[in-house]
Amino acid sequence: MKNAKRKTLIAPSILSANFADIKIEIQKMEKAGADLIHCDVMDGIFVPNITFGPKFVADIKKFAKLPLDVHLMITKPERYIDIFIDAGADYLTIHCEATDELLSTLEKIKKRNCKCGAVISPDTPVETLKNALYMSDIVLLMSVYPGFGGQKFIEKSIDRLKELATLVKKINPNCLIEIDGGVTVENSEIIRSAGAEVLVAGNTVFNSVDPKATIKALRG
Ligand code: DX5
Ligand code: ZN
Repeated sequence: MKNAKRKTLIAPSILSANFADIKIEIQKMEKAGADLIHCDVMDGIFVPNITFGPKFVADIKKFAKLPLDVHLMITKPERYIDIFIDAGADYLTIHCEATDELLSTLEKIKKRNCKCGAVISPDTPVETLKNALYMSDIVLLMSVYPGFGGQKFIEKSIDRLKELATLVKKINPNCLIEIDGGVTVENSEIIRSAGAEVLVAGNTVFNSVDPKATIKALRG
């Protein structure tokens, strides 16, 4: 029997939202049919930008109906795992480049019944993820250099996605493949056919005049 293809999930990144209106902005995405809310945490050290911390995530958790997909772009994420899970993260992803304790940190997240995953930046070889895949619920491939929304999709990410999809199929087919950065309606089809199942989108959905139609188009 052929493997049933899973539904594509759309995760709007609140980095492109107006933080002063965060409740309205998130509810708009929930009404538009989003599947996850992607929360980009940046520390100004691992990436050259600063966003928000666990208090903001906890405040969002009070009203959000959708699961929170928390993408940690911070150095030594192992220091903050418990804090972000307590704040309400449903998915917690950490960068391979940011820690020397990747596997034990993923294990720690899993033990707390939170979905865990590793992330790689555009210059990190896909095979770096190999050992992490065995225990991951999700794996995130960056298709821009992390730090800012609204950047252009790096084309070589399509080949990297295909390589990752082959690896995931071999090691842990249950693991979801997520892509983050520069996703648009125009490139979404090629991204999906390369194997991505969770599409993070910031500018594309938050700047859309019709987020519902945009989300539908991204899903294909
Ligand atoms: C970048 C962030 C992304 C970003 C995506 O470091 O991880 O989640 O918000 O934004 P767009 O879709 O605008 O590239
Ligand atoms: Zn992100």
